[in-house]
Amino acid sequence: MSEKFKAKKGLDGIIADDTHVSHVEVEEKRLHYFGYDINDLCANCSFEEVTYLMLHGELPNWMQLKDYQQVEAHNRNLPTELVEILQRTPKYGHPMDYLKLGVDYLGIADDHNKVGENSLAINLRKALWLIPKLPTLVANSYRITHDMPLVLPDHSKSFSENFLYMMRGKEAENELEIKLLEASLILYAEHSFNASTFTSRVVASTLSDYYSAISAAIGALKGPLHGGANEQVMHMLLEIGSVDKAEAFLRDKIANKAKVMGFGHRIYRKGDSRVGIMTEMGKELAEKKGLTKWHDISAVLEKIMVEEKGIFPNLDFPAATAYYLLDIPIELYTPIFVVARITGWTAHIIEQHEDNRIIRPEANYIGPAKRTVNPLKSRK
Ligand SMILES: CC(C)(COP(=O)(O)OP(=O)(O)OC[C@H]1O[C@@H](n2cnc3c(N)ncnc32)[C@H](O)[C@@H]1OP(=O)(O)O)[C@@H](O)C(=O)NCCC(=O)NCCS
Repeated sequence: MSEKFKAKKGLDGIIADDTHVSHVEVEEKRLHYFGYDINDLCANCSFEEVTYLMLHGELPNWMQLKDYQQVEAHNRNLPTELVEILQRTPKYGHPMDYLKLGVDYLGIADDHNKVGENSLAINLRKALWLIPKLPTLVANSYRITHDMPLVLPDHSKSFSENFLYMMRGKEAENELEIKLLEASLILYAEHSFNASTFTSRVVASTLSDYYSAISAAIGALKGPLHGGANEQVMHMLLEIGSVDKAEAFLRDKIANKAKVMGFGHRIYRKGDSRVGIMTEMGKELAEKKGLTKWHDISAVLEKIMVEEKGIFPNLDFPAATAYYLLDIPIELYTPIFVVARITGWTAHIIEQHEDNRIIRPEANYIGPAKRTVNPLKSRK
C-alpha cells in the first residue's frame, strides 16, 4: 500500500495546519499562548487579559483592558427567553447539553448571525457577546435542574470571582479561592489542535458560523477521553476514599488494563506542562482548609502510574481536586473547562476563517469488494 493511503489512527502525529495561537514544547514541558509562557500568564495576568490575548493575539494595555472588562461585565445576563426554555427543558440532561442548547439559542437570537459572514469584526462581536454569558449559563442551568433559585451575575466582580460566586451562590471565602479558579481557567484556555479545537476548526472551515463551531466543540469536549475526564477523576478519588486504599485500587486497575482517568496525553509523554502549577496552587488551598487527603491519594496514584506505566497525570487530574476543594458541584467541572476553552476555540475559529480551506481528509477504504445488487425478492 502506498504511503498516501496508510491511515494514521486518531490522526496521531499528523500536522493538520499552521497556527499562531499556541505552541506545546513537549520535551521541555512548556506551553505558550501567542508566545507567552503559561507560568508567566498565570503569575501576572487575569483571565480577562488572557481572553483578550486569545481574541486579539496581543495582551491589552490598561485602557484596552478597562474597555474589555466593561463590555464583558455588561454582557453577562442571559435573555429571559433562554432562561424560560431552560426551565421547560427536561431536568435529567447532561450539563454540557444545556450549554450546547444555550449556545445554539444564542446563535439564533443573534440577528447578525448570517451564514457565510465570518469577518474578523463579526466573529469578535459574537465572541464578546457569548463568552461573558457562559458562566451565567453554566451556573443557572445547574440551578434550574436542581430546583435552586436563579443567581444573577454580579457586574462589579471580576470574571473569575463572579463565576465562582454564581456556581456556589455564595461569596468567596478568600482571595486564594478566586486565584485557584482563575489559574485553572488560564491553564484550560488553549491547547493547540486538541479534539474539541480541531472540531471547531472543521466546522468553521465549511464557512459555518461561530456559534455552530462552538456548539460542536462543546459536544467534542463532553467525552470522557477529553474534557469529561476531570469529573471522572473526582469520582475515582471519592471511590478510593482514603490514602491507604489508593495503591490496591490502582494496582487492580492496572492488572485489568483499565484506563485511569486524568492520566495520559496524546502529545505529552513525559508530563503535562500545566500540572505543576495547578497541583501547587491546589495544595495551598488544601493546607489552608486542613484537607490534604485528596492530594495525598493523588500522590500515591501518580507515583505508581509513573513508575509502573510511565504515564503522567494531565491537567484534569489536579483540576478535579482543586474544584472539589472549592465546593463546586462535580457535574460542573467539564462545563468550567468550556468557559475557559471557548477563548482558545475563538482564536482558532478566527484563524481558520482568516485563511480558510475546507478541512476534508481522505479515508483508506477497507470495506467489501465491488458487488452487484440482488433483486429484493431473491435476497436471503
Ligand atoms: C488522553 C488519552 C485519550 C490519549 O490517548 P492516546 O494518545 O490514543 O494514547 P494511547 O491510547 O495510544 O496510549 C498509549 C498506551 O498507554 C495506555 N494509556 C494511556 N492512557 C492511559 C490511562 N489513562 N490509563 C491507563 N493506560 C493508559 C494505553 O492503554 C496504551 O497502552 P497500550 O500501548 O498497551 O495499548 C488517553 O491517555 C486516555 O484515555 N486518558 C484517560 C482520559 C483522560 O484523562 N483524558 C484527558 C486528556 S487531557
